[in-house]
Amino acid sequence: MSGFTIRAATAADAQTIAALNFACWRETYESLLPADVFAALTLEERLDHWRGVFQTGGGCVALTEDADGAAAGFTHWRAHELVLGGRLGRGGEICAIYLRRVAQGRGLGRNLMWLMAQEMRESGLHWASLTVLRDNGAARSFYEAMGARRFGRELSWRGVPQVAYGWRDVGGLARAATV
Ligand SMILES: CC(C)(COP(=O)(O)OP(=O)(O)OC[C@H]1O[C@@H](n2cnc3c(N)ncnc32)[C@H](O)[C@@H]1OP(=O)(O)O)[C@@H](O)C(=O)NCCC(=O)NCCS
Repeated sequence: MSGFTIRAATAADAQTIAALNFACWRETYESLLPADVFAALTLEERLDHWRGVFQTGGGCVALTEDADGAAAGFTHWRAHELVLGGRLGRGGEICAIYLRRVAQGRGLGRNLMWLMAQEMRESGLHWASLTVLRDNGAARSFYEAMGARRFGRELSWRGVPQVAYGWRDVGGLARAATV
């Protein structure tokens, strides 16, 4: 990840992250979403979302910047509760991990996963989960390379099939993400 840095994001970054999120969605989802769902993605909705995240303290957000300080990627996770095996437990939900296309395939995703695993461990959380579009094969391969296992039934995001992945132990995620 030479030339890139990762830092914690703050409310002052909400607009930057919204624009980055929108740009990443457009790069990632043009070939994965039905045209009407893709056309309905807006920068305004992302701005509302990110202002809400920072106003409510809704989790940990990290921002990756290139050597010129341009935003290249971000992650967002939060603590959440889930019934697993009939028991209610608390874990970390990876809400988002996105890199601009130009920043992909350089090990940044691995570094970001490692960082989230450390933060979850420090928060006393033992397991982690996320959802991903069923047909986003590249992201699913990345999660599987990070040790994630598929669980649960098929879900849906804006009417598009989604699947869930998880780690029983965020220590395993940290180990898989270690360079
Ligand atoms: C998915 C994403 C976060 C991965 O980050 P990345 O920096 O590109 O991935 P890394 O370079 O850290 O790859 C780590 C490992 O994951 C695996 N991997 C990554 N991308 C892969 C791909 N497209 N196909 C198969 N395996 C892949 C490899 O095992 C890789 O290890 P290696 O380079 O030693 O072989 C990034 O590519 C991205 O933002 N994609 C578009 C947005 C997206 O789909 N986000 C997820 C939404 S749920």
